[in-house]
Amino acid sequence: MKKIDRETVQRILDVADIVDVVSDFVSLKRRGAGYLGLCPFHNERTPSFSVSKSKNICKCFSCGKGGSPVNFIMEHEQMTYQEALRYLAAKYNIEIKEHEMTDEERERETERASLLAVNEFALRHFETNLHDTDDGRNIGMTYLQQRGVSEAMIKRFRLGYALERSTALYDEAMRKGYNEKYLFDTGLCIRTDTGRVYDRFKGRVIFPVFSVSGKVIAFGGRTLKKDLAKYVNSPESAIYTKSNELYGLYQAKQAIVKHNKCILVEGYLDVISMHQSGIENVVASSGTSLTDGQIRLIHRFTDNVTVIYDGDAAGIKASLRGIDMLLREGLNIKVLLLPDGDDPDSFAQSHTSTQVEEYISANEVDFIQFKTGILLQGLENDPIARARAIGDIVQSISVIPDAVTANIYIKECSRRLDIDERVVALEVEKRRKAQAEKDAITARQERARKSLGDVQNATEQLVKGDAKGDDEADVEPFSAVEAVAVASGAETSKEETGYRRFMYRYESTLVKYMLRYGLLTLAEMVDENGNAVTISVADYIRSELERDDMEIADPVLGSIYRAVLSLQSDGWPAAEQDFRERLLQERDASIEAGEAEIRATASDLSDIERREKELRASVDEKYMRDMREYTMIYPERVICSSPDDAVRKMGMELVAERHVLSKVFTKYTHVITDDERLPDIVPRAVLEYKDAMLEWQIQQLNREIKEAFGVNNNEKHCMELMSRLGELHALRRDMATYLGERIILPR
Ligand code: CTP
Ligand code: MN
Repeated sequence: MKKIDRETVQRILDVADIVDVVSDFVSLKRRGAGYLGLCPFHNERTPSFSVSKSKNICKCFSCGKGGSPVNFIMEHEQMTYQEALRYLAAKYNIEIKEHEMTDEERERETERASLLAVNEFALRHFETNLHDTDDGRNIGMTYLQQRGVSEAMIKRFRLGYALERSTALYDEAMRKGYNEKYLFDTGLCIRTDTGRVYDRFKGRVIFPVFSVSGKVIAFGGRTLKKDLAKYVNSPESAIYTKSNELYGLYQAKQAIVKHNKCILVEGYLDVISMHQSGIENVVASSGTSLTDGQIRLIHRFTDNVTVIYDGDAAGIKASLRGIDMLLREGLNIKVLLLPDGDDPDSFAQSHTSTQVEEYISANEVDFIQFKTGILLQGLENDPIARARAIGDIVQSISVIPDAVTANIYIKECSRRLDIDERVVALEVEKRRKAQAEKDAITARQERARKSLGDVQNATEQLVKGDAKGDDEADVEPFSAVEAVAVASGAETSKEETGYRRFMYRYESTLVKYMLRYGLLTLAEMVDENGNAVTISVADYIRSELERDDMEIADPVLGSIYRAVLSLQSDGWPAAEQDFRERLLQERDASIEAGEAEIRATASDLSDIERREKELRASVDEKYMRDMREYTMIYPERVICSSPDDAVRKMGMELVAERHVLSKVFTKYTHVITDDERLPDIVPRAVLEYKDAMLEWQIQQLNREIKEAFGVNNNEKHCMELMSRLGELHALRRDMATYLGERIILPR
């Protein structure tokens, strides 16, 4: 694979037209200035999916999904950024220019490609066995039929059969000229110490495992006999990391997005039987307990997870840990218990689709209800059981990252267990603090471990370098000085991280304003020559930061900050001019049309004059409004289409809230939005940011002073530090005065 070069990306972004792109999937009707249709991301009867040609974005007012053409394709087709670009390039016949990969990149890719190719071959081989050999039909197919798996599901999940012969796959692969190295690397075949070769999956029914993008990366094989291990699975390889994959996701992802919900089960057959009964948003963790990687994978597609557990006690115990992991990732989680003795497979096989659906919606409960149910079962009046339930639930609530969601659950918990809400909230807060401290300690240990590791590595390099002699050493040997520098480097970075974390809140507010309002005019002023100059929000923030030699510490926020600044000279002027011309044409056209109408219907000359004046005023107002809107949205459009994943994600986060707010409030009242009081909020954010930095320095200084007193008792040094502290405090006071009446919020 090659990477698409930047110019091509830019061309694609320039050419892709949102109405055009969306129309391939949604039928759109003109409505006012834009277009409207049924949202493809959730089920609805009245259209709330709106597409703006001028802004080149789409947005569902109900579920909030949408974005630029690239975003839309990524979301709708579940593609990566690169894939979406290729899709659009094909649509618009744009020739893709790519840059070559480095040798190392290419080697890795060839290795991966070879492993995938061998797996693809094996997939077809197993499928052919199942459908077209006697053993396959008599043994494999019969088994699947007994299990109630339909022909359609066998095709959809690409099920197969491995013949009973020890080297059936191996021999076929050799005959077709595959390199045996890859057979061993993928684990399809095994070579024993004595040199004997055999097929890992022989005599088993095959469940291929697909990556999100549909490549076959592993297999599971189920035995048809009683005695052996029930399932044998592919080992991990360069293309398969078990903890980052979910069985069935490839087949389920569209349905997960559509229903905005993912159902989590345990096994291969659970997934398949649920699909068969029409419930397609189902994936399996394949028997092992859920990992963070798998949870993040789910989160790419939805915020909502329903976990289905078999009714047995062991399953429930294991479930409790998984619940906290899901909550910690910010997912909304429901839990569903099946009737005793059923697993999703047997349940789906023995009920109609409607029954299954109804059972789910009637019985899935939130985790609080689930935990109270389990922990209080039969013990409702036992104070100890109650205390344990409360502790358990509070613990779960305390890991929820979003405060609003946590609050909802605090209320729910207080209601369900009949405890004062404030007590629950307090308890949650306590645990949150305790956890934060624990995290800090772990992080510290981790860093210490790492810096120790760095020293060891550096030392090892040194020794190796010496022993090998310069000719042989393929790695430049570290010098002793460098070895020390590496070790102490970890020390500085620790402080840096502290500073970064401390400043993050303030930086993200600043950058949020850059992104949302950066190109808007903050103030108009007259310079010393009497010329009018306009200062944009971005200019203002930059000049303030430069004045005090400050830099955004967070790398991603920093990138966004710089990107918006550079837009001012690169990109925006041309875009603005284009848009202005278009608007002016529109404006002229509406004036012309309006005037014609007035003349045709007016009663006398003074009537004409009055109405024409009104017309111009209203058309001009619209012009100003559209222009401002476009100026506001431009940086967001660029940043949220950035090829850099981190930048794009952060960008979306920084602008997300705006959409939500305008959706909720403007319906009822006129809420004064941030963009109407920029001269107020932007300088304030800058000052708070600077104040935070002073606060940080003061804290550091206080620590140094303590040390100087305690350890060294160096009086002179102490005095110096104290006087520096005095300066900082004075600076801070000045700043407070600068802020006028406004009080600096305590932090
Ligand atoms: N599993 C595994 N290895 C095993 C047992 C189980 O990898 N030895 C994984 C498989 O992904 C399996 C899942 O754990 O699908 C759930 O295990 P289990 O409930 O025992 O199997 P089922 O999927 O229910 O299979 P069957 O109904 O055929 O017994
Ligand atoms: Mn089963």
